[in-house]
Amino acid sequence: MDHLVSMKQLSVEEMIALLDRAQNFSEYGARELPGKYTVSNLFFEPSTRTKTSFEVAERKLGLDVVPFEAGFSSTIKGETLYDTVKTFEAIGVDALVIRHSDVGYYEQLIGKTKVSIINGGDGAGQHPTQSLLDLFTIREEFGSFEGLNIVIAGDVSHSRVAKSNADALGKLGANVTFLCPEEWAGEYEAKHVWDEEILNSDVIMLLRVQHERHDDKMSFTKKEYHDQFGLTVERAKRMKKDAIIMHPAPFNRGVEIDDDLIESEQSRIFKQMENGVYVRMAVLELILNGRN
Ligand code: CP
Repeated sequence: MDHLVSMKQLSVEEMIALLDRAQNFSEYGARELPGKYTVSNLFFEPSTRTKTSFEVAERKLGLDVVPFEAGFSSTIKGETLYDTVKTFEAIGVDALVIRHSDVGYYEQLIGKTKVSIINGGDGAGQHPTQSLLDLFTIREEFGSFEGLNIVIAGDVSHSRVAKSNADALGKLGANVTFLCPEEWAGEYEAKHVWDEEILNSDVIMLLRVQHERHDDKMSFTKKEYHDQFGLTVERAKRMKKDAIIMHPAPFNRGVEIDDDLIESEQSRIFKQMENGVYVRMAVLELILNGRN
C-alpha cells in the first residue's frame, strides 16, 4: 500500500491485519524499522492528538521526523500544498502525514509525487487513522464487530470521523445508527431522539459539535443541544452495563457529553488516545515497508 487516505480503500482483511499489527505493538512495544526513513507531519488545521500521537509513533519506530509548523512555513507566503509536498519530496522525505481543510486534498498529490501520503484528516472527508483506533478500541472491548449495535451521535454531516467509521463498521458487520439534529444528518438516515433502542446500544460514539465548519449560526444554544442531543448522566444511567462511551476528542464538555461522563467507568475516551499510537505505528510500518 503506497498511501492511506480513506477507510473506503481498505478491505476487511487489510483492516484486520492493521489491527492485529497494532495489537502486537501494544503488547510487545516498538521495533525500529530496518530502513532509515524520514517523515514529516504537515498539519494545516489544528490538532492535539493526531499530530502528537503520530510523532510518538514515528519516534518509537526510529524514524527521522522533520518538524513542520504551517504557521511559520512558506504557506503563509502563498505556497500551494502541491508545492510544499514537492519540496518535501525534493529534500528526501519518504512519507507525509497531512491534515488539510480541503476534502480530498490528496487527489492532487497521488500519482504526482513519490512521497507516501497518510491522511490525518481532510475537512469533513475522512480520518482513517482515527477510525482504525476506534476499531481497535471496540475490538479490544468486544472481541469482534459482527452484530454490535453502534450509535454515532452528534454533528454527523461535518464529521470525517462519522464517515470513516460508518464505512468501516458497516464492512465489518456492525449495525450503525446515527442520532443528530435533522439538519446535520447529511447523506445518512438518522434518529433525532435518545430512544430505548439507542440507549440499548453496545457503543455510544459521540461527535464534537464542529462550530468551525458551520456556515450558519447554530439554531440551538449549547444548553438546548446538550438537553436534546447530548449524552447526559441521566441518559447514561439507562445504557447497558457493559456498553462503552467513545469520543474522538477534543470534546465540548457539557455540550455533546456531560463533564462527569468523560472519565466515567464506561468511558474509553483516553484509551482511544493511547490506542492511536499503536495503530499509527502499524500504518507507518505498512506504508514505509511497502516502499522497498
Ligand atoms: N481526534 C482528533 O483528530 O483529535 P485532534 O484534532 O486533536 O488531532
